[in-house]
Amino acid sequence: MILDETPLFEPRLLEELDWSQNMVSFCPTISPVCPGEGLILRPLCTADFNRGFYQVLCQLTKVGDVTQEQFIKKFDHMKKTGDYFVTVVEDLNLGQIVATATLIVEHKFIHGCAKRGRIEEVVVSDECRGKQLGKLLLSVLTLLSKKLDCYKVTLECKPKNIPFYEKFGYSASDEAYMQSRFCD
Ligand SMILES: CC(C)(COP(=O)(O)OP(=O)(O)OC[C@H]1O[C@@H](n2cnc3c(N)ncnc32)[C@H](O)[C@@H]1OP(=O)(O)O)[C@@H](O)C(=O)NCCC(=O)NCCS
Repeated sequence: MILDETPLFEPRLLEELDWSQNMVSFCPTISPVCPGEGLILRPLCTADFNRGFYQVLCQLTKVGDVTQEQFIKKFDHMKKTGDYFVTVVEDLNLGQIVATATLIVEHKFIHGCAKRGRIEEVVVSDECRGKQLGKLLLSVLTLLSKKLDCYKVTLECKPKNIPFYEKFGYSASDEAYMQSRFCD
């Protein structure tokens, strides 16, 4: 199994977003096509396995001991469904992933067979925080969920991060988040 540059989803989806609908301000100005000097915002590819993708994710949660084979299998599954939009920011000078966030599109029978977006795994590597990359990823995936005709987009976050997400028009719901964990 070989790692390569095949994108998880069509890069055009990110390039063609209507950035004028973005709800937050960026100073200095950045955008999906110009995320900052030496940076590129793009879909995940399997070659990112060796560009520190997991090192960024492990700053958010436990990632486990994932082999290259497991990673490629999971990537192929996600690509086949067409509903996973794992987006990364790469520092081209370092050849390293410095930030990532994921949009998942869920299909419903309700709301006229609608689609709902979920944003997950938003993380910026600690040395790159405060450079607007978290804001950029959130803006991009929120706009992408709209472009993909989701009737709503949701996310779960720690209470300390609520003010961050409010910037993009998210508001706390009165529904409780319930879970039953089967392992750590
Ligand atoms: C939360 C996180 C993604 C933010 O990314 P970032 O690149 O550091 O933030 P940005 O530079 O894009 O954001 C800057 C803006 O958000 C604000 N901000 C950043 N983190 C914030 C937080 N936790 N709460 C409130 N505001 C926050 C900044 O004050 C700044 O505001 P401004 O634009 O009005 O000046 C990042 O800190 C991170 O990866 N944290 C660890 C993982 C995590 O908690 N992920 C979220 C899971 S729910």
